[in-house]
Amino acid sequence: MKEDGGRPSAVTASSVAASSVAAPPALELRGVSAAYGRFRALFGVSLSVPVGSVTALVGPNGAGKSTIARVATGLVPLTKGRIFLAGGDVTGLPTWRLVRLGVAHAPEGRSVFATLDVEDNLRLTFMRAFGRKGIGEALAHAFERFPRLADRRRQLAGTLSGGEQRMLALARVLTVPPKLLVVDELSLGLAPRVVDDVYRALREIRDAGTSLLVIEQQLPRALELAEQLVVLRKGQVVEAGPVDKLSDLARELLPRPPENS
Ligand SMILES: Nc1ncnc2c1ncn2[C@@H]1O[C@H](COP(=O)(O)OP(=O)(O)OP(=O)(O)O)[C@@H](O)[C@H]1O
Ligand SMILES: [Mg+2]
Repeated sequence: MKEDGGRPSAVTASSVAASSVAAPPALELRGVSAAYGRFRALFGVSLSVPVGSVTALVGPNGAGKSTIARVATGLVPLTKGRIFLAGGDVTGLPTWRLVRLGVAHAPEGRSVFATLDVEDNLRLTFMRAFGRKGIGEALAHAFERFPRLADRRRQLAGTLSGGEQRMLALARVLTVPPKLLVVDELSLGLAPRVVDDVYRALREIRDAGTSLLVIEQQLPRALELAEQLVVLRKGQVVEAGPVDKLSDLARELLPRPPENS
């Protein structure tokens, strides 16, 4: 791991776009184990997210899905194994380095600046991503995707409802398409109509070239979008492959959606 002014040694922007023939996966975990203190959460997990496609990660509560999201984004260290981005070894890199390499994480829950209003939350993100000149266009795009945020653009983010804060957090991620987006339970706590908006946005950024690892409790939602499925149980991958081959197995493993919703 070289620290040469933040320039990654093995992974570069062009290594993702360079070859469409047998391109290395956008993300690959090889034999990854991880723990919280003495509690072991992952046991030799191997999985990959092919470039430009959606891989859904499913499994029961406590299986280790969020832990995989954290490991892939540098938030939880590995105890074993390696992680590759577009073929480059990024094992052990801190989150900020991974962000520079184009990795974004939409974690469970919310991540907004509570004391700024909706528009300033977005401005801050877009300023960083696009510079001053790009802000206007990015704002328009975000408000078009999430009209509810437009109605509340001058409201302090901390006073938004839970679902609205989630939307704001998403608008920040989805308007700046990363190379790899790791999404943890996006639909949690959002009204079905909003979830539709979110999935539409995910499809759009996938079509624009972002690779996605999507953690989703609602299997039908995951199947709407994903090409590949990885089924996790007790910290281990039990099945992985194309969605059409695995959806029955995944259905058995996941809780039924709530009745009368
Ligand atoms: N910060 C932590 N400290 C200790 N144990 C943790 C911590 N975070 C998660 N765990 C444990 O690690 C295991 C995997 O948790 P993880 O959050 O990855 O599961 P998950 O598959 O995302 O579950 P869910 O579907 O409920 O979100 C669980 O047994 C959990 O209790
Ligand atoms: Mg989780």
